[in-house]
This record gives sequence, C-alpha cells and structure tokens, in this order.
Amino acid sequence: MNKFDGRARSDALVVFGATGDLAYKKIYPALYALARRGLLEMPVIGVSGSDWSDAQLRQRASDSIAASGAVEDKPALKRLLARLHYVSGDYNKPDTFDKLKTALAGSERPAHYLAIPPSLFEIVIQGLGAAGLARQARVIVEKPFGRDLASARRLNAVARQVFAEDAIFRIDHFLAKEAIMNLLYFRFANSFLEPIWNRNYVDSVQITLSEEFGTEGRGGFYESAGCLRDVIQNHLFQIAALLAMEPPSTRDFGAVHNETAEVLRAMRPLGADDVVRGQYSGYRKEPGVARDSDVETYCAIKLHIDSWRWNGVPWYLRSGKCLANSAAEVIVKLKAPPQQLFADAVAGGGNYLRFRLQPAPAVALAARVKRDGKEFVGDQHELYLVEEHPNGETPYERLLGDAMDGNGALFTREDAVEAAWATVNPVLDKHHPALPYRRGSWGPKEADALIAEHGPWHNPRLDDGAGKAVKAAPEAAAKAASKPAPKAAPKQAAQAGPKRSK
Ligand code: BG6
Repeated sequence: MNKFDGRARSDALVVFGATGDLAYKKIYPALYALARRGLLEMPVIGVSGSDWSDAQLRQRASDSIAASGAVEDKPALKRLLARLHYVSGDYNKPDTFDKLKTALAGSERPAHYLAIPPSLFEIVIQGLGAAGLARQARVIVEKPFGRDLASARRLNAVARQVFAEDAIFRIDHFLAKEAIMNLLYFRFANSFLEPIWNRNYVDSVQITLSEEFGTEGRGGFYESAGCLRDVIQNHLFQIAALLAMEPPSTRDFGAVHNETAEVLRAMRPLGADDVVRGQYSGYRKEPGVARDSDVETYCAIKLHIDSWRWNGVPWYLRSGKCLANSAAEVIVKLKAPPQQLFADAVAGGGNYLRFRLQPAPAVALAARVKRDGKEFVGDQHELYLVEEHPNGETPYERLLGDAMDGNGALFTREDAVEAAWATVNPVLDKHHPALPYRRGSWGPKEADALIAEHGPWHNPRLDDGAGKAVKAAPEAAAKAASKPAPKAAPKQAAQAGPKRSK
C-alpha cells in the first residue's frame, strides 16, 4: 500500500464502464454539471471493452448530456469533451492498465471510478494495484458492494490491500439526496423530537421505496440481485440508520459514520418469516430472466433494532418495481394516547411524522383536531413543511465532487457495509418463494399480514398537503420520461456499467 495524502484533490478522473448505461444516464450529466462549476479542470479517461475512439466516447457523452436536459453552458460542455479520452481493453489483461497508465501520464493523484458490474471490481482493483496506478489514488466503487457478507468481506480485503480506507469511496447515492441529508438535520436541529424519538412514544416505523417502472432491460442484473440486495440492504438500511442513530458527538462525519454503523450492527439478523418476497406478473418473460425465476422484484421486511432506544419497535421496510406510484416515504407512527377519552382518536388513526423523500420532499406531522359541533370528534390533519431544493446538485454530481476532494462524509464505511450484509445474510438463500403480484398494485397482499399488528401500510401520498398532486422534482421527471440508454456498441455488453432504471 502507498502513502496517501487524504486532503489533496484528485487530478484526473478515470471512469471504468464508460460505455455503459450508468455512465450514460448519470455520470456524464454529473461531469457536465461539475465542469460548469469549474470543478473538473482535469483529464477524464473512459475505459471499457468496446473498441472505441476518443471521438466516439465524446459523442456518447454529448448525447447523454443532451438527453438529460438542456445544455445551457456550451463552453463548459466543449471543455469537458476536449478533456475526454478513451482507453479500450479487457480488464483481465495487464496491457489495459498499461495503456491507462500512458493515458494518465502527468497525473499524480487519479480517482478511479468503477461504474462496472460488481463481478469485475476485484479484477480492476487488482489491475490498478499491479500497474502502480493506485499510488496516491482514490477508488470510487458503485453499489452493490458484494452480494453477501462473505463477498463483501473479501472485496473489502482486496480493496484494502491496494488502497487505504480513506482512499476508498463506496457509493450509496441515496446518502447524497437532499431529503435524506435532511433526516439527519431535522432530527438533530430540532429539540422537540428527541423526547419522543424512542420506544416509549414510537409505535412503529415504515419506509417505502416504490417504483412504477419495472426492471427496464436490467433483467440480467436483477436475476443476480433481487430487490433485497438491490435497494433494501443499502438504500433503505441507510435511511433507517439515519432515523435510528444516536446523536453524533460532533458534526465531524466520522462521528456520524460511527453512529450509523452502530445502528446497522444492532439490526437483528432477519429470519424467513420476517420477509415477504413478490414478483410482478410478466417479469419472467423479460430478456435475461429465467422462465422459472424466483427472484423478487418486491420485498417487505420486518426489522428489529436491538438497542436501548428501539427495543420492541418494529421497522417495516418495503420496496418494489411496477408498484402503484414512484415515491420514497418514511412514516414514524406514534403510539395512541394512554387513555382513550375520544373513541374516534384510535379508530381514525393517531399521530405520525411523515418524511416524503421523493418526489417533492416534504415533512408532515399528523395530529387530530376537533370538528365543529357538540360532539367530541375530530379529524386528522397534517402540518405540512415543504422542502425546497431548487438548485440542488444531483447525487452523482455531489458524490463525484466529494470523492475527488477526499471527502468521505456521504460514502459508506467498510464496517457499515458488512453489518448491513450480516442482517440480510440469513435470508439471501433461505426464504419463502416470491409471490406473484399485479403490476400497478402495492405488491402481494401477504405483505399485509407482516404488518398486521402495526398496520396498515401507508402508501406514499403524492399531494401537497392540500390535496393537489405534487410534481416530481426535475431529476425524477426526467427519469420518468427517460428511455433506456441507446445501445452503444454490441461488443460492450460484457463490460458495460451496471444498468440502472433512471
Ligand atoms: C438503484 C437501484 O441503486 O437505485 C435501482 O439499482 C433503483 O433498481 C434506484 O431504481 C433507485 O434510485 P433513484 O435515485 O433512482 O430513486
């Protein structure tokens, strides 16, 4: 391992998987946004298996940027394209890394971004190490980081042989979403929450990530992942950790990482009966999907956090493709008042705090208010706070910029990743079969039984608090309208980046 200066900004960016879907949908638009802000004055080298030229890569980047929205700063785009270079090669061959080394001549502190399928992470990390390209370098690794506890440990060990921990940046792009950063802020910038934020007042917590669309050409990837690995073990667990953590002792993000890792460690390993798996109708007919596939496109879990604060409070997490709408929402449901003075207060639902994370982030507090008249009956109303993020950076723009600055605040740490895998590990192979559900529904009805004691499920509401439908944030709207990335070249398939439904 090499001596590494954790503070110096990277002076070149290498994108492995440059011809892939993730690069097309997310990375080039993020690079353009960085270039516009003057934060990418460095060579950008794309690497992939396809036999491309610099000009082809530039065309691909330019198409991707145009597809993501209006190009308002043509000089910035021109500067970015001029800095783009391409290296083609097989990741298994040392020769590829030699070519990269030549292309990187003059750079002392490159950042290597692995936008490639997880099965290639090890080989690329080792290739970088063997070619001497890890010296003073950073590595940015896409999720999923491993596919179970053992592979995550192995991957961490390989990465740590080549890079220092503070040179490894494990991406969970949810951590760079404004509404998710607000969970940390909202919890600890306000004093009214802390007294009730525990087992004495909280009845249960629900976290839902629903998606209207299906696997969108990612059937092959989904077959090796499934919903639990794809979004629950990482995105939803990170949200749970921010909601459940103890107050960090300082603003230092090392302290935040310590506390989130503690929560992940306190999560009780799941058993088969804590999980309901579903599969939308028609999934088995999609390309790359086995005709008898048992892979879940929907997953609901009942989770326990074995800590002083959360003892006895169930956490219900669910996500699925082809559900009734696209949203991410948290409901923290409070217990009913201790004495039932008003019968309707229990029947009509009690207090909760709702965090809508996407689209159109908002925080709402539900409380009951008496209705006009002689009777002591009331209705549930929401105090509704809208979050405004008009100029928000996209998660990838934020994460790539931070990684190149050596700022690991929004990345996941080795121990946290492994603790998350330890929670899901027992049910990765031992589980009940995936149950069919209708497209456009809220998943298999068996998930209702999972939450029966604390239910029902709150399906995300997409209104502005006054009943008017909210609009998706620009990024979400672009995603809803977006089609899969056009095929770059037939030959790239084996080394294309992991596909994303963006
Ligand atoms: C990705 C998953 O990590 O997150 C996708 O692989 C999922 O399956 C996506 O659709 C959701 O993220 P976002 O930011 O698009 O809501």
